[in-house]
Amino acid sequence: MQCIIANWKAHKSTSAVAGWFRDFREQLNQLRPESAAQVSVARKVVIAPAYFLLSAVATEIGQTKALVAERLHAELSLGVQDVSHLGAGSYTGAVAAVHLAGIGVTHAIVGHSERRRYFRETSQDVVGKVDQTLDAGITPVVCVDSAYSQEQITMLQRDWLNRLLFAYEPLAAIGSGKNASINQVKDEVSKIKALAGSVPVLYGGSMNDQNVAEYLLVTDGGLVGTASVEGKSFAELLVAAW
Ligand code: PGA
Repeated sequence: MQCIIANWKAHKSTSAVAGWFRDFREQLNQLRPESAAQVSVARKVVIAPAYFLLSAVATEIGQTKALVAERLHAELSLGVQDVSHLGAGSYTGAVAAVHLAGIGVTHAIVGHSERRRYFRETSQDVVGKVDQTLDAGITPVVCVDSAYSQEQITMLQRDWLNRLLFAYEPLAAIGSGKNASINQVKDEVSKIKALAGSVPVLYGGSMNDQNVAEYLLVTDGGLVGTASVEGKSFAELLVAAW
């Protein structure tokens, strides 16, 4: 399985969604249909917008899924950038995994370094988020850097590890244009797999259409910020990947 996730962060307004998908489809329309025979692993593409855009993005995904399946042989679905570590109930401001599952969310990014840094999230909070998402039938994408990957992995229940993805995101590489070297990514992916078993590991940190193909040789996909903010550049990245 290979999975490439667009992390829009807090970049887009409601009025920008239709344009993003128009540009995205325009790029894919220029491709010839992908022949199934050339594709050896399942491919997933996830768009993770801010919460208030979920319904607009879900509608656009409905109108774009068939094209992504035809041109890239990939499954297109809806993701979120965070989820509450608590369930449904009296938790003001929280968004519960069970409610996100109800609107078609398939993947939840959890423990992103920006959440840890600006919102004081801890590895223990991330444990709660993984628990909630798995219970709701959503796949968690657990973000780690080398400084806390071991701590985070050992805090997770062993029987969760074959139901989630990890994303290795070195802090210095995020949003900086300074993507990590292939050797560094390869080493860290091996360390994560040595601790967690044969779990898929994505790379994130200034991934773009120029470097994605190389990362796919040593990872199971990517978590893409900057290069996903425009529909055109994200489509170009997918084309370069596959
Ligand atoms: P970037 O962001 O692609 O802009 O480096 C990646 C991420 O933060 O998930």
